Amino acid sequence: MWSLNDSVSCLCIAWPALFGLGIYFLRKYMQGGQFTKQTNETGKVVIVTGANTGIGKETVLELARRGATVYMACRDETKTEKARLEIIEETNNKNIFFRELDLASLQSVRKFAAEFKKEQDKLHILINNAGVMRCPYMVTRDGFEMQLGVNHLGHFLLTNLLLDLLKKSAPSRIINVSSLAHTRGFIDFSDLNSEKDYDPGAAYSQSKLANVLFTRELAKRLEGTGVTVNALHPGVVDTELGRHMKILNGTFGRIVLRTLLWPLLKTPKSGAQTTLYAALDPDLEKVSGVYFSDCKEKKVAPAAMDNQTAKQLWEESVRVTYTRKLD
Ligand SMILES: NC(=O)c1ccc[n+]([C@@H]2O[C@H](COP(=O)([O-])OP(=O)(O)OC[C@H]3O[C@@H](n4cnc5c(N)ncnc54)[C@H](OP(=O)(O)O)[C@@H]3O)[C@@H](O)[C@H]2O)c1
Ligand SMILES: *[C@@H]1O[C@H](CO)[C@@H](O)[C@H](O)[C@H]1NC(C)=O
Ligand SMILES: *[C@@H]1O[C@H](CO)[C@@H](O)[C@H](O)[C@H]1NC(C)=O
Ligand SMILES: *[C@@H]1O[C@H](CO)[C@@H](O)[C@H](O)[C@H]1NC(C)=O
Ligand SMILES: *[C@@H]1O[C@H](CO)[C@@H](O)[C@H](O)[C@H]1NC(C)=O
Repeated sequence: MWSLNDSVSCLCIAWPALFGLGIYFLRKYMQGGQFTKQTNETGKVVIVTGANTGIGKETVLELARRGATVYMACRDETKTEKARLEIIEETNNKNIFFRELDLASLQSVRKFAAEFKKEQDKLHILINNAGVMRCPYMVTRDGFEMQLGVNHLGHFLLTNLLLDLLKKSAPSRIINVSSLAHTRGFIDFSDLNSEKDYDPGAAYSQSKLANVLFTRELAKRLEGTGVTVNALHPGVVDTELGRHMKILNGTFGRIVLRTLLWPLLKTPKSGAQTTLYAALDPDLEKVSGVYFSDCKEKKVAPAAMDNQTAKQLWEESVRVTYTRKLD
């Protein structure tokens, strides 16, 4: 016979255990879609921007495992070398390289593209992954607001400068790491540079909406070339992206908030899955101009379907990346 005491001590063990199990399965569920198809990427040449940490680093690790030749296009040599050596050690793939690219400088983008073309005559996959979120008001070397400058304009120029190589290497793919935040975005043509009024969240959403608009406009321009371009949302991922948000970067944020959020966040490895899916899934060879999340196609926000805005933003982006003037 069980006594009351036994039941109480049994519950004392059972509840925490159930709670722990619940948290474990919640965390597991939140990891989202995974890309599990086996592919062999030997001989493929790939560029990943912002590859020294977070989602970008995990993307390179998996590409390296699958045999690809990968260029880590990053601004911080010390940080990138550390990541690069770890990846080589873990995968035994020595064809992983660091090349300097600061997306906050159009001159650096031009230099990177020119030097890349000198050493490689192929490019099969371009992954525009680097990003900055909710930073205080800052400007790039060319005077563009930082989030628009790095997340959109720097990648815009980079992609356009590499298009000839991508076309030559077709079938080839361009992947844009955008965000669900694009759904809150609004392209403010009267103040693209947020000079009159700066809201860190609105500027981030604007830059991520620009990614989706561009993806659709470029897909149109690339029809029939064998080059596809798609955008995606990686999920809510535990990376360094929150570094500029005081609430996340402080002691309270790092210890208390992170612990509370832990079951809901994706690991960087899970965060890289939709990028890998878009870059590698053989079934997507002819799919272009769409948006993915959790390794599936998703609808974009109505603002991202506006063809007129896409066209106007394209023209404005061509103008500013060549004249370096936003007005
Ligand atoms: N984490 C999320 O929940 C989430 C959600 C939606 C979308 N995203 C998107 O996912 C992408 C990757 O972000 P993450 O979460 O992996 O963040 P992260 O850990 O902060 O990584 C961002 C990367 O971008 C690089 N970068 C920033 N500014 C740059 C510049 N001017 N030139 C070159 N590289 C630059 C960073 O380099 P440094 O280390 O040198 O700064 C870093 O390698 C971003 O486009 C982000 O918007 C992330
Ligand atoms: C991938 O293909 C290359 C040749 O194209 C081959 O040498 C290599 O062993 C293959 N790797 C795997 C894991 O099958
Ligand atoms: C996404 O793709 C377009 C077209 O190539 C490019 O111009 C835009 O800047 C890209 N954005 C990002 C973050 O990759
Ligand atoms: C975030 O916190 C770290 C550690 O306290 C600090 O070194 C870093 O400068 C902070 N980042 C920003 C952007 O404030
Ligand atoms: C926008 O472009 C897409 C793709 O080219 C097309 O299917 C759609 O009908 C266009 N929308 C409008 C409102 O013109």
